[in-house]
Amino acid sequence: MSQPLTAHQVLQRCDTDCWQPAPETPSQVSALERGKVLWLPRLAFALRPEELPLLDEAVVDPRRKNISFQPDSGRLKGVADAQHDAPIRALMQRHHVAAQQLLAGLLPEYLPWVHSPMNTLRLHPVSGWGKKSAWRKDDSLLHVDAFPSRPSQGERILRLFTNINPAGVTRDWRIGEPFAPLAQRFHGRIGSWSPVNSWLQHRLGLTRGRRTHYDAMMLQLHDAMKADDSYQKQGPQAAFAFPSGSSWICFPDQTPHAAMGGQFMLEHTWMLPLNALQHPERSPLRILEALTGQPLL
Ligand code: SIN
Ligand code: FE
Repeated sequence: MSQPLTAHQVLQRCDTDCWQPAPETPSQVSALERGKVLWLPRLAFALRPEELPLLDEAVVDPRRKNISFQPDSGRLKGVADAQHDAPIRALMQRHHVAAQQLLAGLLPEYLPWVHSPMNTLRLHPVSGWGKKSAWRKDDSLLHVDAFPSRPSQGERILRLFTNINPAGVTRDWRIGEPFAPLAQRFHGRIGSWSPVNSWLQHRLGLTRGRRTHYDAMMLQLHDAMKADDSYQKQGPQAAFAFPSGSSWICFPDQTPHAAMGGQFMLEHTWMLPLNALQHPERSPLRILEALTGQPLL
């Protein structure tokens, strides 16, 4: 038997319809740090008419999953044909500016601390993923995010998603349980770590920065969740269809999630140091440290 969660348990709704929320909008930090997905049902990202033809799978380099943009360096990756570089860069830059404004309005406590912004344009249908990718990369399996080549070293991953499907197709997710019971469930299966390997991987350029014990545990948790068929089917979860023209924010390193359907999305990532949190004790790092009884950085 699966253990259903209700949408109410996994989502916190916020009705702002503007990327610069009114100053009286209450901060949404608390719900987010409890692992809820902050759902913004009225927050659409408008594409310009001349941008609509960019919503085409052929626009992504076939060797890449998504188009990505680093606003700090201006680096744009994954565009198949250079003729699309300029309009996509303009779109990604505009999306980044809007995302920063939203952060300032909804999560002002985080604004001074976020760094390494990056946004992606996701043009492939989710239904096409599974067939192409190995199970480890298959994000239609419930998982928490951990980056193999970019260790977070205990920092948080904060993400904003917007469904920009022009035909009204929903982005369908499964959303899982809070991190504390998740870690409790899996911690007997994760935890092995070799400092020598981490050092070597860094020296060989396989990771940007050293993979800490925490990073190793998060990667093992990510893999253990995806590999556990019965957890996938029966673990606590709620299905939710995010309508096109809506947005949502979460800590995907904390909140189990899986994308089950949909096409055309904008996503924005920030990294956030632990000291920016209102409740660091609710973070994956502190929960895993409490469970294992040792420092993990
Ligand atoms: C993921 O973050 O795992 C995938 C989310 C999506 O593309 O809908
Ligand atoms: Fe993910």
